[in-house]
Amino acid sequence: MAVVRMKNIIKRYGSQLVLDNVDLDIAEGEILGLLGPNGAGKTTLIHALAGIIGFDSGEVDVFGKEQNSNLLEIKRQIGLVPQEISLISDLSARENLEFFGGIYGLKGEQLKKRVEETLEFVGLTEHARKLPVKFSGGMQRRLNIACALVHRPKFLIMDEPTVGIDPQSRNHILETIRKLNRQGTTILYTTHYMEELQTLAQRVVIMDQGHVIAGGTINELVKKIQHEEKIRMEVTSPTDLLLEKLRKLDGIKQVTRNHKEITIISQVGAGNLDRALSIAKDFGGILSVTAEEPTLEDVFLTLTGKSLRDGGEE
Ligand SMILES: Nc1ncnc2c1ncn2[C@@H]1O[C@H](COP(=O)(O)OP(=O)(O)OP(=O)(O)O)[C@@H](O)[C@H]1O
Ligand SMILES: [Mg+2]
Repeated sequence: MAVVRMKNIIKRYGSQLVLDNVDLDIAEGEILGLLGPNGAGKTTLIHALAGIIGFDSGEVDVFGKEQNSNLLEIKRQIGLVPQEISLISDLSARENLEFFGGIYGLKGEQLKKRVEETLEFVGLTEHARKLPVKFSGGMQRRLNIACALVHRPKFLIMDEPTVGIDPQSRNHILETIRKLNRQGTTILYTTHYMEELQTLAQRVVIMDQGHVIAGGTINELVKKIQHEEKIRMEVTSPTDLLLEKLRKLDGIKQVTRNHKEITIISQVGAGNLDRALSIAKDFGGILSVTAEEPTLEDVFLTLTGKSLRDGGEE
């Protein structure tokens, strides 16, 4: 069953077309990664999906029901972790959860039970009495996530939940997401950290400038660009002349240098590995050589002509 079906969504802010005929399907039980640089339209798409903002045209069904005429019912079954940390600063961690649980109609013993379970789930039980301002960035993120989980949504939307936190908190959050998914929660996970998706998402949708530009499993996406191979070699003397010679080889798409390491992107089957090695040998020693599988980052680069990181990371 499809948890979400969005079709031909168009959204403008003034004259700017922010969502340009976007389609998005999310299957029950999957973790779908939504990837795109700053300003791609990820948050706008999520907000249109969750009924937080309207859109100019298009269709949205959630849990098989038309969104607009079933909005309250749908909202009760969705958890949304906002991109900006949204906690109430003069309430303790526990009180924040009680507040958000209350909004979703939980009360009495059930609310108390859910709050304690959720604190435990995100590893904040010992800090439940503290105010969020006393928390590290990672703990605030975990509490932000907990607030979207307290009513046990069937479908969880997370808008860049790991921006700006330490690796340990990030791993904790990623583990929490996997656990939720194993328990049956469908998850839409927005990020511009590709390495997270590589291990987390069953399927990835890539957005750029209001368009969905590609979608599929990571293997499918990587296959799209398998006409390329990437060779890295470390050499003793990475001179300009060496780079120039490598660039002249047939089928070479790109040659870049970082200190002693040279990265070559070449068409598959052009036989450039052997040729590059023999040229590099003429210029001195080769310290190491690796041929690499393309990654999601390479897919993005090939499809958009730009690096995701150039989009800037707050
Ligand atoms: N309320 C608004 N009013 C006017 N323009 C907006 C509004 N919200 C978003 N935009 C514009 O829409 C475009 C998409 O923004 P959006 O926040 O959806 O991108 P994003 O992919 O979530 O980016 P980021 O990775 O930075 O969060 C941007 O150009 C942004 O400036
Ligand atoms: Mg955003």
